[in-house]
Amino acid sequence: MSQAPDAVGVLIVDDEPRIRDGLARVLTAMGYRIAATGRGEEVLGLLAGENAAIVLLDLQLPDVNGMLVLRKIRERYPHVVVIIITGFGTVQTAAEAMRNGAYDLLPKPFEPEQLRIAIRRAHEKMLLEKEARQLQQDKLRTLADLSIEKSRTHTIIDALPIGVMVTNARGEVVLFNPTFARYMALPADLAEGSPLAAYIPDEGLRRLVLEFSQGCHVGPDDSPTYEFSLGPDKFLFARGRPVLDDQGRCVGAVLTIVDITAMKVLDRLKREFVAKVSHELRSPLSTIHEQLAVVLSDLVGQVSPADEHLLSRAKEKTQGLIALIGDLLDLSRIESGVVCEAPKNVQLEELLENIIAFLGTKAAAKGQSLTLTRCAEPLPAIKADPLALESIFGNLITNAINYTPEKGRIEVRLGRSDNQVHIHVSDNGFGLEPRHLEKIFERFYRVKTDRTRYITGTGLGLPIAKGLVEAMGGRIGVQSVPEQGSTFTVDLPIEAE
Ligand SMILES: Nc1ncnc2c1ncn2[C@@H]1O[C@H](COP(=O)(O)OP(=O)(O)OP(=O)(O)O)[C@@H](O)[C@H]1O
Ligand SMILES: [Mg+2]
Repeated sequence: MSQAPDAVGVLIVDDEPRIRDGLARVLTAMGYRIAATGRGEEVLGLLAGENAAIVLLDLQLPDVNGMLVLRKIRERYPHVVVIIITGFGTVQTAAEAMRNGAYDLLPKPFEPEQLRIAIRRAHEKMLLEKEARQLQQDKLRTLADLSIEKSRTHTIIDALPIGVMVTNARGEVVLFNPTFARYMALPADLAEGSPLAAYIPDEGLRRLVLEFSQGCHVGPDDSPTYEFSLGPDKFLFARGRPVLDDQGRCVGAVLTIVDITAMKVLDRLKREFVAKVSHELRSPLSTIHEQLAVVLSDLVGQVSPADEHLLSRAKEKTQGLIALIGDLLDLSRIESGVVCEAPKNVQLEELLENIIAFLGTKAAAKGQSLTLTRCAEPLPAIKADPLALESIFGNLITNAINYTPEKGRIEVRLGRSDNQVHIHVSDNGFGLEPRHLEKIFERFYRVKTDRTRYITGTGLGLPIAKGLVEAMGGRIGVQSVPEQGSTFTVDLPIEAE
């Protein structure tokens, strides 16, 4: 029978050539590849070439003790299966051979069928063992891959220049990187697993992390951010994202933190610069404006109408510049926290009536109606700086007039809830697209369309109004539909008696 190239090899070790030949015949017929020797000394050398997976070993050899050969095979080639063939199969020999690692024992003389059975069993055992070894290796490899992957991810997270912290669904910290520890000035021996307060001193941020961890912000656009400071010269900016499992359930949150101290310092320097320049420009500009006014009145009738026009244009422009500088100074005052000069009890209805009377001429010039709608009961007085209130509602009503076409309607409506008054300034003017709604409260932001292009302004009115409202503990918001109109709402707290 021809042998397959990958046929399993059997090594026959017996000093009797007759037996070696007989065994070889039977095994070759079974498809095995055969090697044979009569000398114990040659056994290890023959196995070294991976010649055999099964050894048939006679214990009685002329040169060395068969038991010794068995031990050596087991030591050097533990995967080779050994079947002992022996002429004096005492129980004692059998027991010793098994102890030394033999798999089976065939007492001589034996029938070819007995040999075939023993060889098949040994072959099966060898295959099973091989398979088990393969499985074990695969398992080890997967584990090694996993641990390499894990340590790689860890190394990357540790090397990130931004702070990273991960929580589980209960809001417990399960991981944070060295940058996070440095930003938050955590003690060196603080590990994962302590309560959230040990890592995050800021209460607002803790609340946000808990909300994220519990799945309160899972929408794609719902990712609130948070700015906080640790001491006077350390400003940090945090952003959170929920961690979702395969089924979209929230299983925790990732918080990233960046250091924005440099940006803050730059912003402060910019503001200080603007405030300083505005301040320095104001008095010479006012002087120029007044001098132009004097020159203009002195020269009436003495210069050509063209020159007179030039001079009055110059006077108007300086007036515009003075107003801009006033706005810039207001803004820098609000941003540095100096707002309410002298809070007084203010009757809102009265204050708004005065503003409406003052701006009514401007509205009337555009054929617009400007009305005040009170609520059923008179509002209680609120404690505030009246100049600040004038600035807020002056800005809102002027905007409503400016950004509403001729013959439009502008309404100022009052309302009250338990501890707040609400003032709505509505118009049926140009309205605003949703993408502008947040931005119009930023400095110098103006919406440029064909209709607004020729309306002059600097984009400071709303940021000033917002700064003042917030300094009073109130809120300002806007609702708007393009081409239908806008409603700006101011909520102000009523002081408890
Ligand atoms: N009632 C409104 N209807 C439509 N758009 C408005 C309304 N109020 C404000 N806006 C838009 O918001 C922008 C910002 O308003 P803001 O009052 O801050 O600046 P401004 O009116 O342009 O200039 P100023 O500093 O003189 O007030 C405006 O340019 C305008 O595009
Ligand atoms: Mg304005």
